[in-house]
Amino acid sequence: MATFTLPANSRIGQGKTFEAPAGATRVKEFKIYRWNPDDGENPRTDTYRIDLDQCGPMVLDALNKIKNDIDTTLTFRRSCREGICGSCSMNIDGTNTLACLKPIDEVQGAVKIAPLPHMPVVKDLVPDLSQPYAQLRSIEPWLKSDTPAPPDAERLQSVEERAQIDGLWECILCFCCSTACPSYWWNGDRFLGPAVLLQAYRWIADSRDEATGERLDALEDPFKLYRCHTIMNCTKTCPKGLNPAQAIGEIKKLMVERRG
Ligand code: SF4
Ligand code: SF4
Ligand code: FES
Repeated sequence: MATFTLPANSRIGQGKTFEAPAGATRVKEFKIYRWNPDDGENPRTDTYRIDLDQCGPMVLDALNKIKNDIDTTLTFRRSCREGICGSCSMNIDGTNTLACLKPIDEVQGAVKIAPLPHMPVVKDLVPDLSQPYAQLRSIEPWLKSDTPAPPDAERLQSVEERAQIDGLWECILCFCCSTACPSYWWNGDRFLGPAVLLQAYRWIADSRDEATGERLDALEDPFKLYRCHTIMNCTKTCPKGLNPAQAIGEIKKLMVERRG
């Protein structure tokens, strides 16, 4: 797994410590990145000691417990709590993943939690995802076809055609992959990143879509696609087990094929 550690000269200070209730026997420590744009302070790490006998099994359960019972100021995104919405992506124990799918028991020692790396922070564990969402809009992630849909039926695919988008449609746009990609860290303003490129391939691979040439034209650019150097962090970190590096490789292959 790709891991990220803070540099030794990091200006993240030690914050408050919240002790576990007296008598707790199964105590786990959570060290959580905190930053509030409104208080003028540097970021800090707050420590929360939680009684696991009073908490659900996942890291998101611990965050909800902290928010509900210990410190209402802690800010993070979540919605479905079952790995579907992509909201609760964050860096846990050095790896980008979904808090709702990450069992607390998998982490040895203190559970260190930070926002997705290399993105501007809105507050605490909430990254500003404006850039990847703008990039997603740029690839026009919808079916494009000049052929009118049948008046009384859906656009059909064969079993084989439908299988071409397996491993692609399951993406929940959590951006764990893009924010684990060194090329995206350094060139995220121009490189589309693995999440958005996987989405681009999802439409290229769809037999019902008739805009493949136009889509490939739009990606034929030294930065948008070709900043991927096959480092594979994206695939290693995807909490849904998808393979964005392979999707990027398929786009590159199509580029070569059409050049003949
Ligand atoms: S394979 Fe490409 S997109 Fe994935 S982490 Fe490496 S450089 Fe980034
Ligand atoms: S490919 Fe995986 S890590 Fe990347 S956005 Fe989709 S679900 Fe998240
Ligand atoms: S809360 Fe929806 S994916 Fe975690």
